[in-house]
Amino acid sequence: MRAAAFVAASLLVCQHGVQAATAAQGRLAPCMVCHAENASSAEPDTPLLAGQPSFYAITQLFLFREGRRGSAVMNAIAKGLTDDDLRNFSDLIGKLPPPSRPARPADASRMATGAALAQKHRCASCHGADYAGGKQVARLAHQREGYLSRVLVEFRSGKRLGYTSAMSEALSGIPPEALADLAHYLANLPATAR
Ligand code: HEC
Ligand code: HEC
Repeated sequence: MRAAAFVAASLLVCQHGVQAATAAQGRLAPCMVCHAENASSAEPDTPLLAGQPSFYAITQLFLFREGRRGSAVMNAIAKGLTDDDLRNFSDLIGKLPPPSRPARPADASRMATGAALAQKHRCASCHGADYAGGKQVARLAHQREGYLSRVLVEFRSGKRLGYTSAMSEALSGIPPEALADLAHYLANLPATAR
């Protein structure tokens, strides 16, 4: 169903013969069917790509293509991509403006728990004081909460193997039931934490 939406969107982009000026954005359009933050976008646990460093994006596309990061939809999409495609998509992703803080109110007690965990386990030492990521390290600030929660569980359990073991080591001392509060904190980071 969602893969079908991808194909339909790709055809639409091709049929309309994207003009040179908009070709760059046009190439990402089929991806944004799932990845954009808008009313018609997919489930809350599909990641926003906006604000991700291009080096992080290309690493993940490579892992999807090689089957080293499992996702039925992304494995199928990345399978047909050449190295040049990976570079082009990642360059475009790296130029997207970062997402803004969600308008919904955050839960003060969960924010405090999440902040204390992030400090204790030194998440910012790799992800940056503002959690904007950089190079091969992912941006976390204002990523979708459901997605963050899910991938933290997957790293913790070894289901998602990173490019390196950095994440499984970072999470090894954190009880699985605390991960949802960490996700809540990162998804709703207050302006002062940026
Ligand atoms: C049908 C929906 C769909 C489409 C279309 C789609 N993606 Fe994805 N993408 C996903 C989902 C779901 C994930 C999360 C995978 C997981 O479970 O780890 C993902 C993950 C990613 C990630 C990793 C993001 C992160 O924060 O780790 C990148 C990069 C990415 N996609 C790029 C693309 C590009 C480039 C395209 C277009 C060529 C594309 N995607 C098209 C659904 C989609
Ligand atoms: C030693 C460096 C390091 C530390 C410390 C670290 N991370 Fe990471 N993190 C990474 C790297 C590198 C990646 C990219 C994953 C890969 O290698 O494929 C990542 C990826 C992630 C992702 C996936 C993002 C996405 O879009 O899919 C989440 C979520 C995350 N880290 C959260 C955390 C949290 C929470 C902490 C603190 C408990 C933390 N990280 C500590 C290096 C680190």
